[in-house]
Amino acid sequence: MTTQPTTTPGKTTQPTTMPGRVALVTGAARGIGAAIARRLARDGFAVAAVDTDAEGSARTANSILESGGRAIAVGADVTHEQESSRAVARASAELGPVTALVNNAGILRDNMLFKMSTEDWDAVLNVHLRGAFLMTRAAQAHMIEAKWGRIVNLSSTSALGKRGQANYAAAKAGLQGFTKTLALELGKFGVTANAIAPGFIDTEMVHAMVDRMGVEFDDWKTAAGREIAVGRVGTPDDVAAVAGFLCSDDAAYVSGQVIYVAGGPRG
Ligand code: CAA
Repeated sequence: MTTQPTTTPGKTTQPTTMPGRVALVTGAARGIGAAIARRLARDGFAVAAVDTDAEGSARTANSILESGGRAIAVGADVTHEQESSRAVARASAELGPVTALVNNAGILRDNMLFKMSTEDWDAVLNVHLRGAFLMTRAAQAHMIEAKWGRIVNLSSTSALGKRGQANYAAAKAGLQGFTKTLALELGKFGVTANAIAPGFIDTEMVHAMVDRMGVEFDDWKTAAGREIAVGRVGTPDDVAAVAGFLCSDDAAYVSGQVIYVAGGPRG
């Protein structure tokens, strides 16, 4: 799919992203990742939807194809070195060089520090940090060659510290340092790197967390909304809109930033 110029009387606005570019989105089976995949497709990217849940990534890819876009589904575990390089290689072979990468894959294993298992620490750090590192290292060569690239890492308001999330908070704060370093190293090759830090977003991951606490989701959502400046919990599309901008040509001079998408300064 190519993005058509939108025409208003006396004015033609060109798309902000050149058609023909290829984006790879991890954790694209559902939630924020699926919304970002669909958004980038709408903006003119061919999209590789990567997830360990191959059926879910196929659902995302199919929804893009049904809307007239180009997409493939790739089942891969981002923590696995060979699988992550194969995912980038396959997307580049089938769609074209991957020059936009969204490291969105993530898991929650919340627990108080004194009860947190080493396995739950490692699992969270591995998916978020090792996964983003492996995928970025695999994709950056295509960006350097193209002298154009966009890297978007999904951080979180939890990076600022959150009770029960020593593992997740450390991973999400780590992604901010990773992002800023990528911006410094890759800037001279036309590659930008930014992080999005969402607050509470209405996704299956948050539903599972609320279920685990034995709370009715709608009650939680109403109560959480009261604590947020704009008065509501976010949607995956709220986050996807920011990812769309950061992957566009218009965002060429924005790099190394962390953009909180949390309905307020603290989420
Ligand atoms: N040694 C011994 N005891 C300790 C201790 C220690 N080091 N530290 C705490 N304790 C005790 C406490 O005093 C408390 O004891 P009492 O019950 O006797 O008062 C007890 O351990 C802990 O009790 P809690 O009931 O508070 O803890 P819990 O284990 O039942 O659960 C929790 C705590 C994991 C934080 C749980 O409430 C939870 O999962 N909350 C949700 C966390 C959350 O909001 N996650 C965000 C998910 S969404 C997201 O992350 C998306 C995003 O990007 C924003």
